[in-house]
Amino acid sequence: MVYLDNAATSFPKPQTVPEAIVSFMTRVGANPGRSGHYLSVEAERIRYGTREAIGRLFNHADPQRVVFTANVTAALNLVLFGMVQPGDRVVVTGMEHNSVMRPLRFLEGRGVTVTLVETASDGTVDPQDVASTLDTPARLVCTLHASNVIGTVVPIGEISRICRDRGVPYLVDAAQTAGCVPIDLGKDPIDMLAFTGHKGLLGPTGTGGLVLSPSFDEKLIGPLVYGGTGSRSEQEYQPEFLPDRFESGTCNIAGIAGLSAGLDYILTRGLSEIRAHESGLVHQLIAGLEAMEGVTVYGTSDPKKRTAAVSFRIAGIDNGITARRLSEEFDIMCRPGLHCAPRAHKTIGTFPGGTVRLSIGPFNTEADIDAALSAVAAIAGK
Ligand code: ALA
Repeated sequence: MVYLDNAATSFPKPQTVPEAIVSFMTRVGANPGRSGHYLSVEAERIRYGTREAIGRLFNHADPQRVVFTANVTAALNLVLFGMVQPGDRVVVTGMEHNSVMRPLRFLEGRGVTVTLVETASDGTVDPQDVASTLDTPARLVCTLHASNVIGTVVPIGEISRICRDRGVPYLVDAAQTAGCVPIDLGKDPIDMLAFTGHKGLLGPTGTGGLVLSPSFDEKLIGPLVYGGTGSRSEQEYQPEFLPDRFESGTCNIAGIAGLSAGLDYILTRGLSEIRAHESGLVHQLIAGLEAMEGVTVYGTSDPKKRTAAVSFRIAGIDNGITARRLSEEFDIMCRPGLHCAPRAHKTIGTFPGGTVRLSIGPFNTEADIDAALSAVAAIAGK
């Protein structure tokens, strides 16, 4: 089997990830931040250590400002619904996923205005085009860091400085880049970074979160979920301090234990080594696909400007049929269609049919890419 669907979720995970989950479930099992007995204290130690590891990866000093959520969609919804009011304007790119577009389309019905920044058909966003949308007041700029469809990386560093100069909060959707592309919150003034645990961070599904910069006032976001936090139990009001303000209810601590092992793997192997490995395979894949007659590859081929999600189409063959043949005849896993990102497909000109997406992860090999190229060539040859 060749797994090339890492943009949907990474697989396999480092062996230490399932081991950490099993170890937690069999050895600890308790609820963090609640009961005070030593198993609960151990669960809290694991959770806090995971916040610290997130901080190391993103160069962010304060673990208390790492809020865990169920996934990146929950983190994005927390900001969009907790912060944006009727009459506000939100600026986004033409490549956003439905995790951003659907909340915003709903909020439009409540009187929110959505501005789409000019976005090229290869997914490129010019920071100056973001700047020019800020000549009128905006509540929030929200951009993805990289497209889940074609991998194009958005220059979040430059955009963050523009937003800081204009005094507009900046939210980054790092669903496709956390653990794959460097993110430096110590250097770039990104106010809020939403991440998922189960993709580049190599953790289990059901993990993710929001990192808030030290200068961002968390009171600008109202909680979406109120309830028990294990803190200030005498109060019937939600604690205002972080991370409890946004972490009501028992968390996915078994998943967080697994996420911690995924982060350890990345920090030990090194993000730059993972990035170099994936970039080499992307180069091999794109060069092979582009050499095939009848195959169109979308997005930039410059590995520095993209992640390892590669979209293509074979002329005259339905994308769903290509994906089914890859799975059933060649044992190759991919994702066809619109990838929950119709806005991105409209921008790149592949709506409504979509594309076939092959997405590489840290455990893929040159042999995997060779296998995928032979299979696509066989399908394209009919
Ligand atoms: N958003 C994920 C993907 O691109 C699930 O497949």
